[in-house]
Amino acid sequence: MAQRLSKKKQPRREERVLKEQVKVEEGVFNTRTMLTLRRLFSHAIISSLDFIISSGKEADVYMATAGTKVDAEFVIVKIFRVETSSFLKRNVYITGDPRFGKIKGSIYHLVNEWCKKEYGNLRIASRIGANVPKPYYFHGNIIAMEFIGTDGTPSKRLKDVRLANPKETLDEILRQIKLLYSASLVHSDISEYNILMKDNKPYLIDFGQAVVLGHPESLNFLRRDISNIVNYFFKKYGIVYDSDQLVSEITFEK
Ligand SMILES: Nc1ncnc2c1ncn2[C@@H]1O[C@H](COP(=O)(O)OP(=O)(O)O)[C@@H](O)[C@H]1O
Ligand SMILES: [Mg+2]
Repeated sequence: MAQRLSKKKQPRREERVLKEQVKVEEGVFNTRTMLTLRRLFSHAIISSLDFIISSGKEADVYMATAGTKVDAEFVIVKIFRVETSSFLKRNVYITGDPRFGKIKGSIYHLVNEWCKKEYGNLRIASRIGANVPKPYYFHGNIIAMEFIGTDGTPSKRLKDVRLANPKETLDEILRQIKLLYSASLVHSDISEYNILMKDNKPYLIDFGQAVVLGHPESLNFLRRDISNIVNYFFKKYGIVYDSDQLVSEITFEK
């Protein structure tokens, strides 16, 4: 498993090259984002930011080449867009989560909180051994995390694959949901878009909206997660599972 390793400093020449690479991006990112990106280089989390693999409503996801502090070839860099206003809709996942106080101030602040929350959720999930990208670093509106993929190609989303053993995969996804629940986490946005398939194993991603059980809506979010994934497997593979029963099974021992 990838982890931070060497504390070695980058060679000076390499550093100069990196600075050039950051400059190239300068037209694309705002100044704050640029400064945060520079931290990823100076902390040797990445050695180059290579290309974009997804541009969503709130965040862009980039492939990067790992720096010397990361024991892997590639790193995923998720950059939350500060200009976006669709964040305001997502406030519900933060308001009510006992880990967050009242969020005040600018959209920038809200985006930072969101990003911090995704990082914190990934930390909890990876600590308990869930199939999630290991988080490497977080600052401001940027998270660096483990690349889920093979030979430099990101793994496909559940939505984009035809599974050979769908029942096995669904059972594994439910097992992951249960594991998260045992650590008081509810993903709250489980769907065929937020699950990557690598070596026939499902990896849950996109933990920004995950909440702890202290959130007043957590049980409703869990119910929604279960019924979304169960419905997906019913429609695509004809598998019939009883969502209510699954929810009872997952919540029973807690
Ligand atoms: N750790 C990762 N490894 C490989 N690909 C990833 C990773 N994280 C995100 N992606 C890719 O980027 C896409 C968007 O990431 P996601 O975290 O779901 O952001 P969004 O908030 O835009 O939905 C994913 O569907 C996936 O294709
Ligand atoms: Mg997503």
